Amino acid sequence: MLYSAMEFHDLFIKKRYVLLKNYFSSEDLLKETNKIINQAKNKKWKFVKVYYNSYIKNFLNIFAISYPLNNFFESNFEKELNNIDYKETIKDITKWAEVKTTSIEIQHNKKYNYQSNWHRDWSHFPSNCLNIIVYLKDEIGFRIVPLENNNKVEKLTSNSKMNYLNIPKDFYDIIDAKAGDLLVMDSGLIHQGFTKSNRTHIFIRCEEKKDITLIKNNFANDYSVSEQLDPNITLKQLEILSKKDTYNFDINYYSFKNKIKSFIFTFLYYLPIHRIFNYIKDYKRKKIHFHYTFFQ
Ligand SMILES: [Fe+2]
Repeated sequence: MLYSAMEFHDLFIKKRYVLLKNYFSSEDLLKETNKIINQAKNKKWKFVKVYYNSYIKNFLNIFAISYPLNNFFESNFEKELNNIDYKETIKDITKWAEVKTTSIEIQHNKKYNYQSNWHRDWSHFPSNCLNIIVYLKDEIGFRIVPLENNNKVEKLTSNSKMNYLNIPKDFYDIIDAKAGDLLVMDSGLIHQGFTKSNRTHIFIRCEEKKDITLIKNNFANDYSVSEQLDPNITLKQLEILSKKDTYNFDINYYSFKNKIKSFIFTFLYYLPIHRIFNYIKDYKRKKIHFHYTFFQ
């Protein structure tokens, strides 16, 4: 590894995030993760997050699978996740006594590019809470405003009420991650999910735990996962606990209204609508209408 634990800590203090290159070997974990993705689709796991669904029969444009440790899935995902053995690194970086885990999601998308809004995951910054991204495929595009530019963006926001809509390019870093990298960031940093290719990574949120954890060589125990992430929890219990999530898992994507919506999303995605606007704006007709079609 290129950096020592001390250097990771210093980098984290400086930027409030650090990308640990070549941290683990990703093949086995990717294999187990893919099993969960397939089972979530085939066995219709209820706790999936959907991004602009498109109009294809029995298809959901899933971008995240929640509670992947659950015994509903047949996979060695938990074992392989435990094998990364990242806890001591987190403790070195943060100087926390112990780690507890409050959220785990498999974030994966195949069909569409993905772009979220600029946002913070936590109400205050710096927070005592981390987002960890475990990269299982090469992925470039995730954007983070590092600590040194946080106040600059805040100033822009209060002056122009931009609400993080348009952050100048030199204010943020673009993460160029490879499979096997681990990103550790303060959950309170301003960030934007962004990818122009397919992606598979694991998103983990953790917080500080003050008391000692007795190691049992099992991820759920050693990383002190919260109740809804417990592998043995029943679907009924999960139904109740999942209501606390900000995402509404009760949406019926197959309802008539949502099918219509999906149809519109598909239409907008494939039709290069900005080109139609450009054609209308091009009133001097420098180009013929064909220059503005899908085939150009
Ligand atoms: Fe976020």
